[in-house]
Amino acid sequence: MATKIIEIMICDNLERDTDGALLFAGCSLEPLAKKYGTPLYLYDEAKIREKCRAYTSSIADFFGGQGRVMYASKAASFKRLYEIVCEEGMGIDVVSIGEIYTASLAGFPLSLAYFHSNNKTDYDIEYAIDRGVGYFVVDNAEELYAINRIAGEKGIKQKVLLRITPGIDPHTYAAVATGKVDSKFGSAIETGQAEEITSIALALSNIDLYGFHCHVGSQIFDGDVYLATSRAMLTFVADMERKLGFVTRELDIGGGLGVRYIAEQPELDIRATLKAVSKAMMSICTELGISLPFICFEPGRSIVADSGLTLYTVGTVKRIPGYKSYVSVDGGMADNPRFALYGSPYTILPVSRPVPNENMLCSVVGRCCESGDILQENVPMPEDVKRGELLACLTTGAYHYSMASNYNRLGKPAVVMLRDGEDHLAVRRESVEDLTRLDV
Ligand code: LLP
Repeated sequence: MATKIIEIMICDNLERDTDGALLFAGCSLEPLAKKYGTPLYLYDEAKIREKCRAYTSSIADFFGGQGRVMYASKAASFKRLYEIVCEEGMGIDVVSIGEIYTASLAGFPLSLAYFHSNNKTDYDIEYAIDRGVGYFVVDNAEELYAINRIAGEKGIKQKVLLRITPGIDPHTYAAVATGKVDSKFGSAIETGQAEEITSIALALSNIDLYGFHCHVGSQIFDGDVYLATSRAMLTFVADMERKLGFVTRELDIGGGLGVRYIAEQPELDIRATLKAVSKAMMSICTELGISLPFICFEPGRSIVADSGLTLYTVGTVKRIPGYKSYVSVDGGMADNPRFALYGSPYTILPVSRPVPNENMLCSVVGRCCESGDILQENVPMPEDVKRGELLACLTTGAYHYSMASNYNRLGKPAVVMLRDGEDHLAVRRESVEDLTRLDV
């Protein structure tokens, strides 16, 4: 099967050198594969900082500095990332004691951590309070009572945002759509539960209600979703001021900005999106007669996705006459479950040479004992792709390392940070000894 493909470099940290070899963040990939082995997660530190600054400068320029950006660390959580985000003057969104612990090891000031999750155990709550986590984002009334009780036992008043479900359809895949009323997250405006939980929070003596939070979904390209979300949330803010006399100090409208995995997707302009949100918010506030609260954003994917690339080595190449061709790599659903889970599109490129015009379409598959262990289908590859050749899967900085598993007792790949043309190990590769460390 031959198709004409012209490679498009989907992010400006990718290029081919004069020999046709792929460079990422200005670095040659073959020596990195030799030094660290494959599969290998690579990160481009300059790109992470560029994305952080797109957000922080938007807060300064469009919200008069009256806001904060929290990196949603579920997208990728390891010490070096928390250090970078801290240096960039951002807060963090954490969802587990594992993320809290990792951030604290990195020296992250936990007063700027926002503790999410729809089901915090008493142990989690105690752990977070003991470590001085600044804010709890509270999902439901039951959790609010538990936090009030534990904060009381510890003699503190806990700062809280309430997670509200604004009833917005984010137009994305079902697994990441969270803004609709029928959701496991938050308290819905439509059902009256959002107002109810606000009244409860105001009545509890160990709760210091700061404001509201929502997150309507992930991988969102439609800017109107944020405008509709802003309107719904600010209307709720105005309602709570009128009905309960509560003046919202902070309003967090979550994360969710989409990123480019394949050439057909756009590259979203973060600053333009936030500028439009700020303009809309200001006019909605004027219309409602309220002042604009301190505004928070919680991006994960759009901070780290295109700063990441995964390197694989080709193993078996299987051509089934009359059927598909399979190119197997030394990773798969254990280091990237996103195609198996969501059918997510990816760009996969040969490292040493561009995809030629005469190519074959193949399925790039992993080495787990499962037919669903596919990284991508219909990938154009050189017809003579062979064992030992390196492949690069692009845009793997978000929800890859953090969603990796040890299925089939495969060790997780190493994570290497690229900075100024140099490579720095951030997380070492899991060895077989690591994998058996907890067996008794
Ligand atoms: N805030 C909250 C409360 C969230 O639940 C999330 C993501 C974010 C912020 C960050 O959203 P982002 O900017 O990254 O879109 N595993 C899925 C993504 C799950 C997103 C979960 N929540 C995937 O691989 O596509």
